[in-house]
Amino acid sequence: EVFRDSAKASIAVAHEIADLMRAKAGRGEQCVLGLATGSSPIRVYAELVRLHREEGLDFSHVITFNLDEYFELPRGSRHSYWYFMHEHLFNHVNVKPKNINIPKGNIPLADVYEHCMEYEARIKEVGGLDFQLLGIGRTGHVGFNEPGSHSRSLTRLITLDHLTRVDAASDFQGISNVPTRAITMGIQTISQARRIVLLAWGHKKAEIIQKTIEGERTSDIPATYLQDHPNVTVLLDEESSADL
Ligand code: GLP
Repeated sequence: EVFRDSAKASIAVAHEIADLMRAKAGRGEQCVLGLATGSSPIRVYAELVRLHREEGLDFSHVITFNLDEYFELPRGSRHSYWYFMHEHLFNHVNVKPKNINIPKGNIPLADVYEHCMEYEARIKEVGGLDFQLLGIGRTGHVGFNEPGSHSRSLTRLITLDHLTRVDAASDFQGISNVPTRAITMGIQTISQARRIVLLAWGHKKAEIIQKTIEGERTSDIPATYLQDHPNVTVLLDEESSADL
């Protein structure tokens, strides 16, 4: 779906999430949301915060799972995705802290495998993801599933692609400060969500969006695995859709 601008598209996806939350609450069910970081979803979160403040949108029955976290970054670091999510969403709505799940980037290497398996188990335990919000990196990553990721990959430690670190360099005041690894949900973890919405704005995303939507399904561009999903929508603005 191509929108005139990203603001309109962001409001549309926030309203889809809000409708899902209300429908599940009406049935007395928990709503399990997979959430993304990066600049793309910021306005989605701003609209959800507005709906909470002005219309009482209730997050008390929402369980969240974030896609990824940088590895070997303290939780409190302002570069962490933990910080990002609290700043843009969690500090402003009534989600219960015990229902917030973000991979831990500050654990010893020896504990990472077990932590990733526990993350997978927790998603299963709550019935799987009702909705997964995604951005896309210029390498074609979703979460941090870099080129080479397997379609059946699960939550794991991954080495970041050079281009991903280049793109993150300005946030970290230089590429040498960008972590080299991250923990990310896998392609299989993401693909098992019952509904997926991917966001991409701006001309820098036009080339990877063209390959993701019109190209061959390939592990070189992990976002192309989404072509197999039965319920995925890609929301674009005019710039990111320019090469289609
Ligand atoms: C990071 C995140 C991805 C995100 C991507 C794009 O690499 N791990 O989940 O999709 O950035 O970021 P942006 O939305 O700022 O373009």
